[in-house]
Amino acid sequence: MKGHFIDGDWVNDGQTVPNINPSDTSDVIDQYGRAGRAETEAAVDSADAAFAGWSRSGPQARHDVLKFVSDELMERREEIGELLSREEGKIRAEGIAETIRAAQIFGFFAGEALRLTGDLLPSVRDGISVEITREPVGPVGIIAPWNFPIAIPAWKIAPALCYGNTVVFKPAELVPGCAWALAEILSRSGLPKGVFNLVMGAGSVVGQTMLDSPKIRALTFTGSQGVGQRVAEASVRHLRKFQLEMGGKNPLVVLDDADLETATDVALNGAFFSTGQRCTASSRLIVTEGIYSRFVERLTEKVRNLKVGPALAPESQIGPVVDETQYEADLRYIQIGRSEGANLRAGGEPVRAETNGYFLAPALFTDTEPGMRINREEIFGPVASVIRARDYDHALDLANDTEFGLSAGICTSSLKHASHFRRNAQAGMVMVNLPTAGVDYHVPFGGMKGSSYGQREQGVYAREFFTTVKTGYVFPG
Ligand code: UN1
Repeated sequence: MKGHFIDGDWVNDGQTVPNINPSDTSDVIDQYGRAGRAETEAAVDSADAAFAGWSRSGPQARHDVLKFVSDELMERREEIGELLSREEGKIRAEGIAETIRAAQIFGFFAGEALRLTGDLLPSVRDGISVEITREPVGPVGIIAPWNFPIAIPAWKIAPALCYGNTVVFKPAELVPGCAWALAEILSRSGLPKGVFNLVMGAGSVVGQTMLDSPKIRALTFTGSQGVGQRVAEASVRHLRKFQLEMGGKNPLVVLDDADLETATDVALNGAFFSTGQRCTASSRLIVTEGIYSRFVERLTEKVRNLKVGPALAPESQIGPVVDETQYEADLRYIQIGRSEGANLRAGGEPVRAETNGYFLAPALFTDTEPGMRINREEIFGPVASVIRARDYDHALDLANDTEFGLSAGICTSSLKHASHFRRNAQAGMVMVNLPTAGVDYHVPFGGMKGSSYGQREQGVYAREFFTTVKTGYVFPG
């Protein structure tokens, strides 16, 4: 049984829930705590009490903590990567790669802790100087999704601690295993008690208690638009800083002059790897006339060849869908696509394996219309659709015809079109001849329009959210 980590202690005495492997529903990974309001409030209080001390800690102390976590994650990447794959369902290679990424993120912010800077300027008034410094915001609430069980917590926790904030971390209910493993490492990292707290449980209880607390001074959230809206409303009520990363309906434009192998590989990876469960997934493949049939034919062949199976089986390329609710939702959207008149060219049906898991053959729709629900709503599964475009200008219009704006890609050999697309795609991230998903850890991450709100995550840009600015005017007298 794995409990919460509150005020430097492990708390094991409340309700628990089983953590079930989506590749094999008879495999229960462990029982994990399910907190109520009282435990959550205790965690918030402890983060609040610890803030005075940690906010004044020096660069070396912060560096040492973050470096410790980075080193241990890197050392244990296979073990934690396998746990990740076992609880979330992405294949083993992806689980390990994600754990390495989390280690690198902690390593990056370990470095940043040593590079805290400010500005010193002369005042416009004689004899006075102005000092602009960065200060931490306060206790930070972190609400993370299930699809990146270790990388997303890492890219929220590491900068929060780096810049001197304290943390209450609520992982997604489906993936407490990685969160607990990370918390256990943090518990031995040298952090003073109360600086980092882990509270597992339901969004409606743990998340809501965090939102209701005036002591949480910043809230960083990755998840659905609906919940994001609630985070925003509750945060405004408390005049709290907040940052939202929500969905995507990311376009990949493929132009006539694209290299066919590159374009179909990029589409395959962007649409279906990690079972399509990425907010950066390419769900709309927008293809111009001259390459349309060759693209569809080659991509269909590649999609049909994808090996779907248990996350930890060496031959699997696509793991299961994360749970039954998501599985049902994916199947429902596949049904909706068919009834809207889209042509289901590949997959879309349940796949049998030796174990009882949520296996779904990656679904490729062709001849779809931009107004279809499968082209408007985020599905968050291994489902992608192809839309026909007349030419580049039409393709760009279709790419931008969405309420989302996270990531956008283009496959082309034309520098002119690639440059124009980079400037005019309404998305926070633009990829040229690369998948829309799969990003670096040291540069800003985030979107435009309905995908994101607030400051960017990751890289040095993370500082904007996790610090506030103080302007000091000094007259030596
Ligand atoms: C990636 O594509 O490498 O939830 C990261 C998500 C994003 C992370 C995507 N916040 O899918």
